[in-house]
Amino acid sequence: MTELIFNAFVMNTCSHIQHGLWRHPEARQADFNDVAVWIDLVRTLEDGLFDTVFFADVMGLYGPLGGAYEINAREGLQIPSNDPSVLLAALAVNTEHLGLAFTSSIMQAHPFEFARRVSTLDHISKGRIGWNIVTSTQENAARNFGFDRLTPHDDRYDWADEYVEVVYKLWEGSWDDDALLKDRARGVFSDHRKIHKIHHAGKRYRVEGPHLPSPSPQRTPVLFQAGSSGVGRSFAARNAEAQFIVPPHPAAATELINETRAIAQSFGRRPDDIKFLQGMTFVIGSTEAEAKRKEAELESYLSAEGFLAHLNIGVAQDTGRAYPPDMLLKDIRTNGNQSQIEWIRRLVPDREPTVADLGRLVPRRQPRLVGTPEQIADKLTLWQAAGIDGVIVVNWMIPASYREFADHLLPTLQQRGLAKRAYRPGTLRQKLFGSDRLNERHPAAQYRGAFASAEATTARSGMN
Ligand SMILES: Cc1cc2nc3c(=O)[nH]c(=O)nc-3n(C[C@H](O)[C@H](O)[C@H](O)COP(=O)(O)O)c2cc1C
Repeated sequence: MTELIFNAFVMNTCSHIQHGLWRHPEARQADFNDVAVWIDLVRTLEDGLFDTVFFADVMGLYGPLGGAYEINAREGLQIPSNDPSVLLAALAVNTEHLGLAFTSSIMQAHPFEFARRVSTLDHISKGRIGWNIVTSTQENAARNFGFDRLTPHDDRYDWADEYVEVVYKLWEGSWDDDALLKDRARGVFSDHRKIHKIHHAGKRYRVEGPHLPSPSPQRTPVLFQAGSSGVGRSFAARNAEAQFIVPPHPAAATELINETRAIAQSFGRRPDDIKFLQGMTFVIGSTEAEAKRKEAELESYLSAEGFLAHLNIGVAQDTGRAYPPDMLLKDIRTNGNQSQIEWIRRLVPDREPTVADLGRLVPRRQPRLVGTPEQIADKLTLWQAAGIDGVIVVNWMIPASYREFADHLLPTLQQRGLAKRAYRPGTLRQKLFGSDRLNERHPAAQYRGAFASAEATTARSGMN
């Protein structure tokens, strides 16, 4: 039995996914401004032998273009929120093994600046950084960066193609491995002949280079992706080393994984070059009855309005106000997530579902495994047989859900061979794939050494 990868899914905000739970007396997510909450969390995660903590992030409000945000503010729905990359620097020095992954949208940072920030974090963490590449789906985010509207869906992925090209050039191609000398005797810190400008000139970006940081332990951070559309999946198949997925059951996971692996092969990658991490949530009890009781108690805190606002449905597009609970779904007009509404309609076959049904069912979007540690291990075995490599553990409460995992679920998973018993040494990529650097099949690898000859002939010793 191969061990699963375990990834803790969080966000530097109060209400990330399980809306309403921040009100629970054991929940500390409301105090997310306090770095001590996060330091406590990452130490808990290392006790639980988690491979990575993964910070989601968004650059604006959920909701209609120019709409109200009363619900967002009331629910703490991803506002207020803080920058995860700044926080990761603090978490890096308070952990030793945990991978530290974060989302950054192609819209939010210029690739030159972003590449430098990531390299800095990879140095600080000694090679434990991961990047979730996102293209952003919020209209408000687009307006925060000077656009009238969100760039059309497929064009965002063209943008992403150029964005990753720039950062790959900087991370993989700009510095030779032996450029940094620190030669005190000769007084040469680094060898300019081995540091290269990249001279990128594309549709959106012109970046001369060189990359300012010297190579970090992983150079390119471990690349995560979560796109699920056709182009999103194709982008992931080319670029991702780990793909976040949320199909509702194991058979759907198998289909998605096989399809994405086949696309990856068409790009010259190997099927196992990508790890598939399935989102799910746990409710653990010492008996099944206790787990069910706990589930009911947790559910009593859930806020349907928060979920509906997050999904951009259940909220009137013009006013930003919640629809009444007894409103029929067929009367909702949305250009948001229509497929979610259809999905819910199928779950309530005997009558036309209402907004209240939507609120009740949406929190079950990701699979929820409820039961004793043995029962949960049985279900995880089925998921593993379906092809997943790991789990994104969606929490109810920080840090309580992960403390519970470490204390009550991990020992059983270890006995069953589903979880590791100790961390392996090395960088995040070393732990996941057995090597510090991206393999040669990845598109970033083509930039290794690619800028060397041009620079060698034009090398100058300028004083600026
Ligand atoms: C587990 C998971 C985590 C995600 N995290 C983020 C995130 O932090 N920020 C974000 O803007 N989108 C996030 N997304 C959304 C995806 O990046 C992507 O935009 C969405 O799945 C739609 O993909 P598509 O445009 O290819 O259809 C996440 C999706 C999943 C499944």
